[in-house]
Amino acid sequence: MRDSDSGIAWLRSGEALEQVALKGLELRLLASGDGTELIYHKLAQGSHWGLSPAAGWTALEGLFIVSGSLRWAHGGEKRVLTAGDFLSATPVLKEAVFVAETDVEFLYCSSQPVFHHYSNQIRGLMGLAVDIEQKDGYTSDHCHRIMKLSMMLGETMGLSSTDLAYLNFGAFLHDVGKIKVPDSILGKPGKLTDEEWSVMRRHPTFGREILQETGLPSLLSAGPIVEQHHERFDGSGYPHGLSGADISIPSAIVAVVDSYDALTTNRVYRPGIPKAEALDEIDRSRRQYHPDVVEALFLNADRLDG
Ligand SMILES: [Fe+2]
Repeated sequence: MRDSDSGIAWLRSGEALEQVALKGLELRLLASGDGTELIYHKLAQGSHWGLSPAAGWTALEGLFIVSGSLRWAHGGEKRVLTAGDFLSATPVLKEAVFVAETDVEFLYCSSQPVFHHYSNQIRGLMGLAVDIEQKDGYTSDHCHRIMKLSMMLGETMGLSSTDLAYLNFGAFLHDVGKIKVPDSILGKPGKLTDEEWSVMRRHPTFGREILQETGLPSLLSAGPIVEQHHERFDGSGYPHGLSGADISIPSAIVAVVDSYDALTTNRVYRPGIPKAEALDEIDRSRRQYHPDVVEALFLNADRLDG
């Protein structure tokens, strides 16, 4: 509602110029004018949120915590932001990754418009993720589980904020390339022929290409993580047969997490196995995985679902 005499826009609680609700995240564009936007955010406990620098971007960005607590992994040190805390940067020079320690509400302000770009990007990503889960016979939430567990291991291993930001996208979209694999191969109940298998093994490269086509900086940087998520430490993986230190740490994390999740998740054609058996299985095939990532998985054993 706008008071025509005063020029003041008055929004009651629950109203917004526009809003987007997604799993774990609610966005409301509260005010927008002269390029500046004020956006309400509500993040569910355990969800991640981030700020990324971009070429040519000079905006002031700030966030003010209204309720709950938000953890900021910041150059090796961790800070917890609670109600009343405020952060700002002009412009943001480095990736900043935040984790909601509880359900958290905050106001985000930018002096250049972001809402449409931002909400379309998130909607697009969510749509792709759902397509992949359905095409691949997974129950819903596979992408979220992979992202959440990958970030847990990444934080345990002390990854930089930049790597964590790329890991967040790379883990969530690791299988996006399966969109380009025909249903007749992806959903085939029996064994794949050599020819079908060679198409299937291209999904990590298809994924990197899809992220490249978006032209969005964070997704471009997540591309190599997606392309390497089936590479194995001992060189037995695909598509390039990379080994050891030639595989990036974020990819090595997604590789372990994806294997663990595949073992513990119920699929249409078989039930998942219990957590302890899945950890034994990862232990038995250790040579395929980066030792530090396996270590981080075992360190987090008590926090794993399954
Ligand atoms: Fe994959």
